[in-house]
Amino acid sequence: MQHNEHTANKTIDEARQGEAIMMPTNEGTSKKLYLESYGCQMNFADSEVVASILSGQGYETTQDSKEADVILLNTCSIRENAEQKVRVRLKDFKKQKNQNPELVVGVLGCMAERLKKNLLEEEKLVDIVAGPDSYRDLPNLIEEVGSGQKAVNVLLSREETYADITPVKLDKGGITSYVSITRGCDNMCSFCVVPFTRGRERSRDPQTIVRECKELFNLGYREVTLLGQNVDSYRFNLSAKGEIKDENLPTTNFAQLLEMVAQVSPDMRVRFSTSHPKDMGDDVLEVIAKYENVCSYIHLPVQSGNTAMLKRMNRGYSREWYMDRIAAIKRIIPNYCISTDIISGFCDETDEEHQDTISLMKEVEFGFAYMYKYSERPKTLAERKFEDNVPDEVKSARLEEIIALQGQHSLKQHQEQVGKTVKVLIEGPSKRSDEQLFGRDDRNSVVIFDRGDLKKGQYVMVHIKDCTSATLFGDVVEVLPPHPIQHIEL
Ligand code: 5AD
Ligand code: SF4
Repeated sequence: MQHNEHTANKTIDEARQGEAIMMPTNEGTSKKLYLESYGCQMNFADSEVVASILSGQGYETTQDSKEADVILLNTCSIRENAEQKVRVRLKDFKKQKNQNPELVVGVLGCMAERLKKNLLEEEKLVDIVAGPDSYRDLPNLIEEVGSGQKAVNVLLSREETYADITPVKLDKGGITSYVSITRGCDNMCSFCVVPFTRGRERSRDPQTIVRECKELFNLGYREVTLLGQNVDSYRFNLSAKGEIKDENLPTTNFAQLLEMVAQVSPDMRVRFSTSHPKDMGDDVLEVIAKYENVCSYIHLPVQSGNTAMLKRMNRGYSREWYMDRIAAIKRIIPNYCISTDIISGFCDETDEEHQDTISLMKEVEFGFAYMYKYSERPKTLAERKFEDNVPDEVKSARLEEIIALQGQHSLKQHQEQVGKTVKVLIEGPSKRSDEQLFGRDDRNSVVIFDRGDLKKGQYVMVHIKDCTSATLFGDVVEVLPPHPIQHIEL
């Protein structure tokens, strides 16, 4: 899952950190909800589930926290600085609450799970603490606060996937959307807090995933990103629903799910995140190659280029294994783009180990990377077993080297696109000028071109004439006709 921090080329998602989000208004009600999301794409998807649950209770959203009756922050614990950002916000809201004691402030997501009652009791910053599996309980929790109590639900579940809840789309008229396919993570990478905050991995019923994608298509969305901490370990057996207990029933794996979603419509683009090198099989790559609407962009976090380090990280693969997966992508998918996550300065990292990361980057030439300094997280295997002993200056220097190299690779890959003509899904006006639009190509590069008479949601062919490491610029040479079926029967 991408947590946007140091990126060689900024993404649109990056602008979304700490974004306030709006729900459609519910006339005739007076309760106002202000919802702010931090961290990974899963949190943004979850906020739409929360919006759906609370709109059923008559909550109307506002973008102005000052007029809210309820303020909810959907939070991230992945690194220390992600938590710091939220604490600063909570202190602002605490001041607001001092002036308006009726105001209800709640923390959702990973920080809720990690800190449990601390935020309520010791720090007295909030009224509600609700972990990622307890959003159905939010109406009750809000009611409890109304009757003068503090309310906590941080129970993690082995079953909850919110499969039956249709998320309320918060970006009305949007073109791209996230769809959760799994929750939680069973991998236990030694640096990572996610298995503790999001619990055990569970897969969502494929029928509900396909249905949600069809509904999104009918609402005008033209791209879905299937989300999970490790999409390749998606496995759904009917017996998991608890209705039929028969392990011999057919199981749907990720390659099969991807194919089912690809068949929703040729005009619905499909992306997914995050792939795990230890689990990504050739079957998934073959589905990408088979369907034009499944994008050739794979986010495959490597974390480090050194096998001993990967072992300390408990990643479950070696450098050689990772390079074998890269070779498979290059062999099976024409015009691929590979992105990655890299951590600098994990416990005991030597200069040689760091140089192995640099050499792996040079071998692969990632199109894009999310790059982080190691941040020790409480309860993780690393915190218990190893010492966070790489000095901060060394972590920073290594990170700088990684960022600089990635910048060169991103630019080089974009330069290779100049002169080519690429298919772009138009997402909206470009940030810099209303006279220009932006979209993404199959490889996930942002492409900018003149507006003309074009509209978001259309597919166009763009001849690329210029680039930076972050963006491609070009001229539209063809507007592609929409597929004849623009409404799908559910
Ligand atoms: N410190 C730094 N980066 C981390 N990540 C996960 N945990 C940590 C941590 N403790 C990074 C990994 C992961 C991405 C989502 O965040 O690179 O792939
Ligand atoms: Fe964390 Fe590893 Fe799971 Fe990703 S795969 S969420 S890094 S434990």
